[in-house]
Amino acid sequence: MRSHTLAVLPGDGVGPEVTGAALTVLDAAQDRFGFGTERTEIPLGADHYLATGELLPEDTVTALGDHDAILFGAIGSPRVTPGILERGIILALRGAMRQAINLRPVRLYPGVPTPIAGLTPERCDLVIVRENTEGAYVAQGSRVHPGTPAWTAVQESVNTWYAVERAVDFAYRLARVRRGRLTLCHKTNVLVEAGKLWTAVMETVGERYPDVETDYVHVDAMCMHLPVSPERFDVVVTDNLFGDIVTDLGAVLQGGLGVAASGNLNIEGNGTSMFEPIHGSAPDIAGRGWANPAGACLSLALLLGHLGEGEAAAAVEAATAAVLAELPALAGADMGASTDELGKRIARALTSGETGSGPVPPLEGSLMGQLAQVMAGSG
Ligand code: IPM
Ligand code: MG
Repeated sequence: MRSHTLAVLPGDGVGPEVTGAALTVLDAAQDRFGFGTERTEIPLGADHYLATGELLPEDTVTALGDHDAILFGAIGSPRVTPGILERGIILALRGAMRQAINLRPVRLYPGVPTPIAGLTPERCDLVIVRENTEGAYVAQGSRVHPGTPAWTAVQESVNTWYAVERAVDFAYRLARVRRGRLTLCHKTNVLVEAGKLWTAVMETVGERYPDVETDYVHVDAMCMHLPVSPERFDVVVTDNLFGDIVTDLGAVLQGGLGVAASGNLNIEGNGTSMFEPIHGSAPDIAGRGWANPAGACLSLALLLGHLGEGEAAAAVEAATAAVLAELPALAGADMGASTDELGKRIARALTSGETGSGPVPPLEGSLMGQLAQVMAGSG
């Protein structure tokens, strides 16, 4: 039987709840599609940090590197100064595992309520490719005279040809197997140095993809176009900070943060890819079963696609979408079922092959299928 090694990092707040639901769905996927996983749970996050002082120990990095994929819940806690866990664990992991790409699909599933009036699933199917290792996230910076009126802070953004080309090339390849359209999102009219580099990379790499049509949108204008006319976008490539911001907006189109999934992809074969819902640890609702596990389950679908379990990936996506469509509300006490119950419901939909909205869709034409095609040409 095929088997994959999986590191599970439930993390803080609602992280363990949504991860638990995703693992129930994974059990069902394994039964139906005949593969196994060997899972190692790794206790990173606020509790571990407060108890041991450790954020991301070296031996954990080594252990993670030996796994086929990482399933991540959420990290962050009001008990720890903002920035310590985020930078010390999430960003450190993305860097240590050389997760060059943060892949964030923005897809409205049929029957899912969106706050954007008149938006339909046919009009909302794009993928944001966020450069995942540098930009303003390099944690460089300096200060003078802190705590005085002369307090001065400098926070640089770093853009290397190497990392930008890696992200842009991936985005072109993804666009090529999708609708053949790639948009660069930046702020070239103000951040002119970074902007020139990104634009030059787009042009240079674009010579290898003459069949992909390209355009450019400023990040502020993107915040207007995305809710009003998402259909004009297929693949969007952008820097780390802009990508962080526009993907939260993208999540709103999809129905909210509880639905949005992501994959932190290593595309060079020198580290382990990690899959996580976009939402955070939501400490205010932790422990109540109010978190929607859809984001975690759709992240699991991306993980399965990445492991080459394409059929299982497409089935998990379809089962999650089917259960999502039945919910009276997308999160909180009104969701109609707890996080745990929803995990079981998605697992049942998967096991029976009945998705409520028809048979499980074919891999071909699905995002998982597209990713498999792109990843086959990577590394
Ligand atoms: C995300 C989050 C993280 C980010 C934080 C928690 C460091 O907002 O994954 O989008 O900024 O990348
Ligand atoms: Mg974010």
